[in-house]
Amino acid sequence: MTHFLNKVAVVTGAGSGIGRALALDLAHQGARLALSDVDSAGLAETVRQCEVLGAEVKADHLDVAERSSVLAYSDEVRAYFGVVNLVFNNAGIAFSGDIEVSEFKDVERVMDVDFWGVVNGTKAFLPHLIASGDGHIINTSSLFGLLAMPSQSAYCAAKFAVRGFTESLRQEMLMSKHPVRVTSVHPGGIKTAIARNSTAAAGQDAKVLAEFFDKKMARTTPESAAHTILRGVRAGRPRVLVGVDARVLDALVRVTGSGYQRLIAAVAARVLPTGQ
Ligand SMILES: NC(=O)c1ccc[n+]([C@@H]2O[C@H](COP(=O)([O-])OP(=O)(O)OC[C@H]3O[C@@H](n4cnc5c(N)ncnc54)[C@H](O)[C@@H]3O)[C@@H](O)[C@H]2O)c1
Repeated sequence: MTHFLNKVAVVTGAGSGIGRALALDLAHQGARLALSDVDSAGLAETVRQCEVLGAEVKADHLDVAERSSVLAYSDEVRAYFGVVNLVFNNAGIAFSGDIEVSEFKDVERVMDVDFWGVVNGTKAFLPHLIASGDGHIINTSSLFGLLAMPSQSAYCAAKFAVRGFTESLRQEMLMSKHPVRVTSVHPGGIKTAIARNSTAAAGQDAKVLAEFFDKKMARTTPESAAHTILRGVRAGRPRVLVGVDARVLDALVRVTGSGYQRLIAAVAARVLPTGQ
């Protein structure tokens, strides 16, 4: 278990859920941590728990959608630790709403955080990861980056985009022989605050949707998700699926091709709450 010992790992969205669990698992394995979030209280709690484990932590308030801040931050992290080995572009938000009733600004906000946040973090840190001679970039997509889901068009657009972006980047690193591994992460339903923090289109009750997610969809703990992700990172896997639901639904898409769309629409019409 020495893979992460003394490695410098950056985790965005470290104040809650999967980001916090990744930070704690990395701390446990002896990594040095650059943790950030827009939620200062959540971040402070993660830092406290990591320090109890003896980790060296640099903590910063950072909005991944603010490009200039992310660019400045990457240089600060490099200057502070002298090297950057791993970057987990994990921060993300959710939004529910059919396109018919969603506003452009709702879609843009999800793209700003979930897609551009990943692009900002990747571009900002890539030179430092190449310079490290031992870099790894881990971008969090989703199960919804592998299959589409009604009422999730904005989120699916961002997460499919993260997958495409990340897989292209991996090919570029292989072709250029840069010492940077690249992994795209696809969690299924994880028991975090994501649905409770989610917004919804006008007329939809975000609370009802969050309760449905918490009770029926979130099956995997964040600790187990972090464990699976870090095992995949250690093994240098290009794609990490997290949870049985992610593995089963990934297989469904492979088997049915575009046929899964009718199937999911039929099931969703019976099962998903209208949220109204
Ligand atoms: N929970 C799931 O079921 C699930 C499934 C698939 C993918 N994911 C992805 O996993 C990642 C982590 O989500 P989570 O489930 O731990 O959710 P979470 O809400 O528990 O944690 C997300 C963290 O990101 C932070 N954040 C939000 N916007 C930010 C911004 N602009 N800049 C910096 N930080 C910001 C939040 O403050 C929060 O601390 C996200 O990218 C999410 O889309 C989650």
